[in-house]
Parts: sequence; C-alpha cells; structure tokens
Amino acid sequence: VALTDADRAHLERCLELAERGRRTAAPNPLVGATVVRDGQVLGEGWHRRTGEPHAEIEALLAAGDAREATVYVSLEPCCHQGRTPPCTDALLAAGVGRVVIGALDPFPEVNGRGVRRLRDGGVAVEVADGELERRARRQNAGFRTLVTHGRPYVVVKAAASLDGRTATAAGESQWISSPASRRRVHDARADAGAVAVGIGTVLADDPLLTARDATPPPERQPLRVVFDRRARLPLDSRLARSVAAGPVLVVAAPDAPADRLRAAGIDVAVADGIAAALAELGRRGIATVLVEGGASLAGAFLRDGLVDRIDLYLAPILLGGGPGIAAGWAAPALADAPRALHVEASRSGDDILLEAELREP
Ligand SMILES: NC(=O)c1ccc[n+]([C@@H]2O[C@H](COP(=O)([O-])OP(=O)(O)OC[C@H]3O[C@@H](n4cnc5c(N)ncnc54)[C@H](OP(=O)(O)O)[C@@H]3O)[C@@H](O)[C@H]2O)c1
Repeated sequence: VALTDADRAHLERCLELAERGRRTAAPNPLVGATVVRDGQVLGEGWHRRTGEPHAEIEALLAAGDAREATVYVSLEPCCHQGRTPPCTDALLAAGVGRVVIGALDPFPEVNGRGVRRLRDGGVAVEVADGELERRARRQNAGFRTLVTHGRPYVVVKAAASLDGRTATAAGESQWISSPASRRRVHDARADAGAVAVGIGTVLADDPLLTARDATPPPERQPLRVVFDRRARLPLDSRLARSVAAGPVLVVAAPDAPADRLRAAGIDVAVADGIAAALAELGRRGIATVLVEGGASLAGAFLRDGLVDRIDLYLAPILLGGGPGIAAGWAAPALADAPRALHVEASRSGDDILLEAELREP
C-alpha cells in the first residue's frame, strides 16, 4: 500500500521531532513518533538519550488512549529487550491499528523483525520509500554506520576557494570562508561526537576546535582528536591547555613517546592507521566524526576509503597556489574516481555549502 500525502506529512513531523535529539541521542538513534486518529494528532514523542524512553513510548503516553490509532515513527520500533522493554509489545498492548515507519532499523536484532512482530500481532505496517525513506536514513547516518561498520560516520569538512585551494601557497588559511560558515561549523562540531585534525594543522593554526559559537551552546563539547603518530602535540598548544573545557584524544603510533601527553591529562589512543583509530572511536560510542583537515589527513582518509561525506564551503575568492582538500592521494583513473551519490547545495553567508555523500548511510 502506498503512503498517502497525509502519511508523508505525519512522517515529516516525526523527522522534525527526532531532530531534537541531535546533540544528545548518540550513540542511540534520533527517533520521533506521533499518534494520530481521524487526522488528529493525539500525542508526540522523541528520543532524548540512552536509557530514556523511546519515541513511540513517549507518544503513546502523551496520547493516553491509542486504540485503533495510527502510530507514525521515523525508525522501525525495536522488538528486543534492551535497556528498555520492546516497543513492539507496547504498541500491541496499546491496541494501535496501524504503524507507519520512516526506515528500517539496521540493528541486527531488529532489522525487519519489528515489522514482522507487529504484523503477526494483527497491526497493519507500512514503510516509507524513495526520498522520504532516504531522509530518514540520512538523519541517522551516525547510528547506522556505527551499527553496521563499528565505526563513526566520517564527514570531511573543508573551506576552499573557487579554484579549490584550502590555503595559500604560503600556508595561510584563516579565514577563507565567511563568518556565517564558521558559525555553521561550530554547530556541526556540536552535533558531531568528535572533531579530528592532523598534527600539521595543529602546528600551523593552533586551533581550539570547540563548539564555542554553536547555537544553542552545547551541553558537552565534542571529543577533539589529533592524528599525531609521533605524539608531537605541543603542551603549550591551545588544545593541550584546554583539556578542562573538553576532552582531547591523541591518536599515536604504538612506539610513540606519549607519556608526556598522558601526564598532561591528554588521552592517548594507540592505533596503527585510520581504520583502527575509527574502530576505537566506535568503541567509545562516537557516532559521527567531523574531520577538519588538513589536506594530508583528508587524503589519508580518502585513500583508505573511509570518507562518507564531504562538506565543502566554497568561498568566492581565488588563491592560485596552495593545496586542495586532499593531498597524497589520487584517483587511479577517471573511471574509478569516487563520485558523490548525492549532493545538496545551500548558501552559507557569502559561500556555497556543498554536502556530497560518497556513501549511503
Ligand atoms: N581550508 C581549510 O579548510 C583547512 C582546514 C585545515 C587545515 N588547513 C591548512 O592545512 C595546512 C595543514 O595541512 P597538512 O596537510 O600540512 O597537515 P594535516 O593534514 O593537518 O596533518 C598532517 C600530519 O598528520 C599526521 N598523521 C597522522 N596520521 C596520519 C595518517 N594516517 N596519514 C597521514 N598523516 C597522518 C602526519 O604527521 P605524523 O607523521 O607525525 O603523524 C602528517 O604529517 C595548514 O596550512 C592549515 O592551515 C586548511
């Protein structure tokens, strides 16, 4: 059965409700739900954080009597005993007549079983398709990547000139993008569990990497990660001096002299390569990492096939010389070059933001 326009509008509302959990839900998914009878919304809910009620339960509670109602939910209801009881059982006990779902849950213990359990209980179930289903999946890119690959969703962010340079030939890059874009990056930092840079960027720019200009101010700062195989992070860098304001993690090679950093309260993860570092972030429950450069680190991520999306702020300036967004990496042939599956373009102050998806979450 195809969804009606009203069904789609109710699911859109669920996506909106789910967004409220953007900064708190990870490593859990963002989920929104509504209970509707005869076109009237009886209750709404969304998932705040691990251990707190799932969106469907909140919506059922808000509705009170949900008999014969339709429940809209942006992610397939769970059917296993986790930290909270299965939502499918609560929906069946409430006597709902129909459930409309944004996207299936990739979690192995759910993944279609939630739908089956509801159908077995006599409830009509529909799952969105096309662009709406894709939006529901994209909303949970972090959760889905963590569940299916055991690593965070990787977004490479860069600011580039019209001719694709991320710094001048002399290495100056502050600032290429507009103030509006820089504010937007602070929001993206607050939304991500972690922000990462190469040691080259730290030595060149001494960045702080906090989400200090995010609106609203975030409850917690992202984990600030430095890819620094030889553990060279200076103790007088702004990162090292601000561990009280938010955690810093240095990813170092097994033989690096990292005790100096540990003694200064900096967390050190020993990892051989990017995949191992991402697996460690996954174990720490990080669902999304924003890689902010430089070109060498972005190139290494691309070379290892570990970039899910590129957020490129294109500024109306020309630099002529200088690096591109990724160095030390080249497509083997035009036919084999990674091509974005989906690109969104929007204005960001004087810049254009291109969000290019290399992999579907
Ligand atoms: N426009 C922008 O958006 C933007 C953003 C950021 C930076 N920048 C500019 O970019 C420049 C810095 O870029 P960069 O390319 O020199 O440095 P980078 O990419 O920030 O850091 C490179 C360093 O990262 C370390 N690293 C750790 N793990 C690595 C791995 N798996 N593969 C490769 N390197 C790894 C390497 O040092 P070890 O071998 O010691 O580990 C390497 O030298 C600065 O001028 C900065 O201003 C511009």
